[in-house]
Amino acid sequence: MSSNRASKKMKRIAVLTSGGDSPGMNAAIRAVVRCAHFSGLEVWGVMRGYRGLMEGAFEKLVPRSVSNIIQRGGTILKTSRHGDFRAQKGLRQAAHQLDSREIDGLVAIGGNGTYGGALDLSKVWKGRIITLPGTIDNDLYGTDSTIGYDTAVNTALEAIDKIRDTADAHERFFLIEVMGRHAGFIALDVAISGGAEEVLIPEKKEPIAALGRRLVASEKCGKLSNILIVAEGSAHGGAFETAKKLRAITGHDYRVVVLGHMQRGGSPTAADRILASDLGCFAVEQLMRGKTGVAAGRRNGRLVLTPLKEAIHRNKQISPHLLRILPVLSI
Ligand code: F6P
Repeated sequence: MSSNRASKKMKRIAVLTSGGDSPGMNAAIRAVVRCAHFSGLEVWGVMRGYRGLMEGAFEKLVPRSVSNIIQRGGTILKTSRHGDFRAQKGLRQAAHQLDSREIDGLVAIGGNGTYGGALDLSKVWKGRIITLPGTIDNDLYGTDSTIGYDTAVNTALEAIDKIRDTADAHERFFLIEVMGRHAGFIALDVAISGGAEEVLIPEKKEPIAALGRRLVASEKCGKLSNILIVAEGSAHGGAFETAKKLRAITGHDYRVVVLGHMQRGGSPTAADRILASDLGCFAVEQLMRGKTGVAAGRRNGRLVLTPLKEAIHRNKQISPHLLRILPVLSI
């Protein structure tokens, strides 16, 4: 983790949000703007993530620009998937846009792709770069929770509680798909907190026939309604595909609900607002101390920095204990 530019006094920083939006991104932007202003720094917001960085879509942000946004989902800076940004041309264009405005530091808020973009940019741009974990997926190494994860879990849980009423009333089996292409954090948390019978996640590779046998056995034991939580990237595909496979094995009728993008929206929970505020201020402080090429996070209650390379390449593990107790809790 580098602090080789610590001697240079910072005057101006930029902040952007990139990749999938997550509730709490606005709270993080607010914290960055206000902490930077408090420390005498000028702040520029970059619109539409790395795309806006290449195109030079900058807007000056002052403390009043971020009034009344702490409770809002989405991101006032808009966001985009980075597309051409990571090609050499895109990176050089971005570096030029930052240099022409004499920007000394950049805070990039987003998920794994955003971290990758920040690492690539750090190789061609001389300013300091720090990332904040903004994704509902919670699949970033270097922080126990990402900004937006707690809100997404609670949003999904509220929907699942409602579906459970119908599952119980009609004595039906439901497959509910939650987000998570590469990781089962949301799925496992909502399965535990929603009292689900089963969870299917990318990390758990179990033959579908074994699941089918369990469902038949649980029905024989008198369980006439079942909730199965399926991560969109589960080993057997999404909820529709899994239902088709299970139907063929068990002969059962399964109802499928895909929660989709509703999980990304809405007002952030208190936990996400606090995490975002904490990390936003921490990022500014660390940039001013000369840190660069790092991801900010909170682990075991402590604010920490992880080198970007490590944060990108190391995998965060889902809780094996939660996975183990799920079937115990649903007997
Ligand atoms: O990265 C967050 C996330 O919501 C994933 O859970 C999901 O797989 C993906 O984004 C969906 O992306 P998009 O909104 O671009 O379809």
